[in-house]
Amino acid sequence: MKKHIINILKQTQGTYVSGQDLCEQLGVSRTAVWKHINQLREEGYTIDSSARKGYRLIDVPDLLNEYEVEPLLTTEVLGHPIIHFREVPSTNIEARKYAREGTAEGTVIVAEHQTAGRGRSGRSWFSSPEWAIQMSLILRPKVSPALAASITQIGAAAVAKALESLGLSPQIKWPNDVLLSEKKVCGILTEMSCELDHINHIVIGIGINVNTPHFPDDVASVATSVRIEKGETWNRKKLMAAVLNSFEPLYKEFLEGKEHPEYLRICRALSNLIGQHITYETTKGRLSAKAIDIDNIGRLIVQHSDGSTETLLSGEVHI
Ligand code: BTN
Repeated sequence: MKKHIINILKQTQGTYVSGQDLCEQLGVSRTAVWKHINQLREEGYTIDSSARKGYRLIDVPDLLNEYEVEPLLTTEVLGHPIIHFREVPSTNIEARKYAREGTAEGTVIVAEHQTAGRGRSGRSWFSSPEWAIQMSLILRPKVSPALAASITQIGAAAVAKALESLGLSPQIKWPNDVLLSEKKVCGILTEMSCELDHINHIVIGIGINVNTPHFPDDVASVATSVRIEKGETWNRKKLMAAVLNSFEPLYKEFLEGKEHPEYLRICRALSNLIGQHITYETTKGRLSAKAIDIDNIGRLIVQHSDGSTETLLSGEVHI
């Protein structure tokens, strides 16, 4: 209901819509309209009301809610619905709860602020309230769990594509970071619930530093934001929609098992590792090798000094 009210008020922005018109278009009473308008005001919408003229939308909040982002989506499944929170410990934790309860593929959980944002390997993820995008996508791909690592690559490719559309030149640091000027602008945390031969659900958590003006000392040397790189703030709603709009076709190709999927072309083309000498942690300690390619299921192929090759499924890699 609130979504319809916002849509009507946006279409007639600048002019009043009478309470009667709203009631007729929505098929509800004046009291119901008034109640929803008040709820929207509490959520941050500035709506003027006049007993004679009706309602007029004055200003919309900078929030990543379903009323603001869904109209920008060109997707069939992804982002329908968007479930928006002002604050949660972690959107991944929230999304996993929803997924366990059977929430459909494509649902997106997004929060303005995370109080316990999670990074990979048990690290925490810095949250900048209302400056970043912190969202988790619920997916239920009907593919082998062995292919799940590709989901992270699809996420990285989708974010990189969206950043390119802003005129930026992102790089992808396999397996899950998107960089601008060699600093991290986006991190991805993919979590899976599966059986040996079946994926129950995958939650892919994407954190993008959009308008963060600066970072705390402990991350400032490795983190950046779109704002820092472009020198101006950016519309988070458009960027979130651009990521979801890029993600869905890449994900579809993956499900269809396309031989040369676009997400891999993007990950290879934008990789900051291919051709570089790298080090990585193993159970045998730190090893070094040359990164030579990403294989067709998203694993990093490295070559040792004796010419032998190895494929890495995931892990921390350093140049
Ligand atoms: C990393 O680079 O270590 C991964 C960071 C992932 C951060 C995102 S923000 C949205 C989602 N919710 C979380 O708690 N983490 C992911």
